[in-house]
Amino acid sequence: MANGFIPRPVSAIAGLRAYDPGHDLPALRARFGDVGLAELGSNESPFGPSPRVLEALTRVDATTLLRYPDPMGLGLRTAIAATTGVAPDEVVLGNGSHELLMLLGQCFAGPGDEVVFSEFGFAVFAIATAAVGAMPVRVPALSRAATMPRGHDLEALAAAVGPRTRLVYLANPNNPTGTTFPLADLERFLARVPTGIPVVVDEAYVEYLHDPVVGGALALRDRYPNLVVTRTFSKAHGLAGLRVGYAIADRAVVDVVNRLRESFNVNAVALMLAEAALADPDHVARVREATRQDREALAGALEAMGLFVHPSATNFLLVDFDRDAAPIEAALLARGVVVRPMGGYGLPTCLRINTGTGRDHERLLAALAEALA
Ligand SMILES: Cc1ncc(COP(=O)(O)O)c(C=O)c1O
Repeated sequence: MANGFIPRPVSAIAGLRAYDPGHDLPALRARFGDVGLAELGSNESPFGPSPRVLEALTRVDATTLLRYPDPMGLGLRTAIAATTGVAPDEVVLGNGSHELLMLLGQCFAGPGDEVVFSEFGFAVFAIATAAVGAMPVRVPALSRAATMPRGHDLEALAAAVGPRTRLVYLANPNNPTGTTFPLADLERFLARVPTGIPVVVDEAYVEYLHDPVVGGALALRDRYPNLVVTRTFSKAHGLAGLRVGYAIADRAVVDVVNRLRESFNVNAVALMLAEAALADPDHVARVREATRQDREALAGALEAMGLFVHPSATNFLLVDFDRDAAPIEAALLARGVVVRPMGGYGLPTCLRINTGTGRDHERLLAALAEALA
């Protein structure tokens, strides 16, 4: 640089890399504009938001835009509290649940502290840990075998909690494994963790769950005040572009997060539209059922091609190709099909593919048949 300026970030930040979106999606959209891109890499919902959200959008006016949003997001927090059976002051909003996962790391862990999470746990857990200079304690997954579930080993996770542990991150269901753990296992885990250590259960995909024994962790809040549940409007609500997530936690935890949270972290339009989304639980129920059917159909078609598809409770599938998946991913991309490579997770033989429209699935399967030929 001309003036010789070399920025020197703190050591924790110096070791980080900027978010890698994988591909330049705007450029790919322009390139495949005529046929369209099959976007199956970000676990978005192909069903989009409820019609109520689109109707609420027509009510956005100049005043909504010229004023700062409600810094407390009280309307949305009250609506979330009503649907989840908690009090509004037990809810804190985030610019996506990603922001809340990062804030929780900043609030509760620092240099030299340990943060416990599972191998193949959601990528943000490691980033949030590194960003504060804490030590990641990655606990081996239940299995590493290609054809076995790679979910959280809650026994081993509990055993990994030690005197330097300040925070635990779990995801149920987990991305990218698609795995879940039963509430009873979570309860056994919580009983073994000192109550001074916040246990974050990331429930970004909770709306997709059918299995009644894998209910949301909120049922355990009364007994475990250190439990923090994060959720999002990005997945089953079909609002990834809006950036709204929330955490439900003890008031004392919410109070700590609010000290660091940027005052206007959720914008005015997002507050309005997320509230409209919550008012339409039938939309989410329809999305859940349609996603289950689409997921089963897609898994069946992939299995018929001889691929191993991990069982999934979500809107995505972890597919094992039993060989380096990078050339397959590249071949799909060349045909306008975007999926997510898993090398960064230590799963280089896998690709993560979310359910899309019928046409997306046709494109994917046709492109895969060519790529594998
Ligand atoms: C497990 C999990 N948690 C959290 C997020 C973050 O979602 P958002 O920031 O859009 O709420 C994602 C997004 O893919 C996810 O897969």
